[in-house]
Amino acid sequence: VALQSYNSFGIQARALKLARVRSQEAVEQLVSGLGLNGGDAVPPLVLGGGSNLVITGDIKTLVIKVEITGRRVLEEQEKGFVVEAGAGESWHDFVAWTLEQGCPGLENLALIPGSVGASPVQNIGAYGVELQDRFHSLDAVDLRTGRTFTLNAAQCGFGYRDSVFKHAPSGEKGLGLAGRAVIIRVRFWLPKPWKPVLGYADLERKIAETGIEQPDARQIFDWVCAIRRAKLPDPAVIGNAGSFFKNPTVSVEQCADIIARDPKVVHYPMADGSIKLAAGWLIDACGWKGRGVGNAGVYEKQALVLVNRGGATGGEVMTLAKAIQTSVYERFGILLEPEPVVV
Ligand code: EPU
Repeated sequence: VALQSYNSFGIQARALKLARVRSQEAVEQLVSGLGLNGGDAVPPLVLGGGSNLVITGDIKTLVIKVEITGRRVLEEQEKGFVVEAGAGESWHDFVAWTLEQGCPGLENLALIPGSVGASPVQNIGAYGVELQDRFHSLDAVDLRTGRTFTLNAAQCGFGYRDSVFKHAPSGEKGLGLAGRAVIIRVRFWLPKPWKPVLGYADLERKIAETGIEQPDARQIFDWVCAIRRAKLPDPAVIGNAGSFFKNPTVSVEQCADIIARDPKVVHYPMADGSIKLAAGWLIDACGWKGRGVGNAGVYEKQALVLVNRGGATGGEVMTLAKAIQTSVYERFGILLEPEPVVV
């Protein structure tokens, strides 16, 4: 099976077999049939929207594509709404739908590519809101037993672009669920009364430009869409996986050291006293914008995004990523950590 249309990078690779599943029962049945319980069998690759993925070769296992749909407002309580969506729903369409239902709260996360089921895996975030701020719970099928279980926010172990779903069961953090679960449904908690999140510089600029001091959720949704369209490539046109690296954090001393040499470095203080640096700025400062390796390139308008200029292989993308890591390390002493899942 050709995987090019199943990953937003548009990388050409093949999978042995691809199973598209449309219901909880279908996932449970498929998984039970695999007989992974107890064995060392290689787990299947679970695919959502494929928008946070770099495929570096043909996939020798089964690929499961979750296409479970359905969206509903489950509950309206005095303090908020619980809304639910099937893992196969498009994230952006779901965000737009919640606003139409009169359930605001996800507007800052508009236009993020990918599916609802993939959203908890990397705890998607943008413009001051992270998925974990609006998360209620999720249902997933255990890949060993075929049984469905539910996780709350604490059990998902959310961190910056991180969750239990990105960690191996035997990994350093322990209890990881990578390769162990298929997310089939996600529920969100959207608190009432709604409060806008406007602290992000790009949004403050919109307020200044338009003079709209008290935007409603729809206005924020439109602003976020406009900001993203201006600096991020549309994966339907230019293959990419969003930000390729996480923004690194450094100590106050390390940051002061960098500022002494590069006074313009973009940095933000964090609640824990550390300082977050804009990886895009660091890469840009090393002169990477517009450069590339083979058909893989660094996007002209946002150096944090690697793009497929047509026919790029996963190997070219990873070679480019390593070259960027090396030059940022040599200049700033910081090792950038890739953000997408590499398979
Ligand atoms: N910058 C440069 N040159 C560049 C790119 C950025 O100087 O080539 C500077 C910008 O001027 C800005 C700063 O770096 O001052 C930060 O850039 P931006 O506001 O575009 O955000 P980001 O830190 O690059 C993060 C997320 C994005 C998210 C935006 C908005 C990560 C890894 N990325 O990007 O998330 O949309 O903030 O909240 O945290 C993603 O994860 O795939 C993603 C797109």
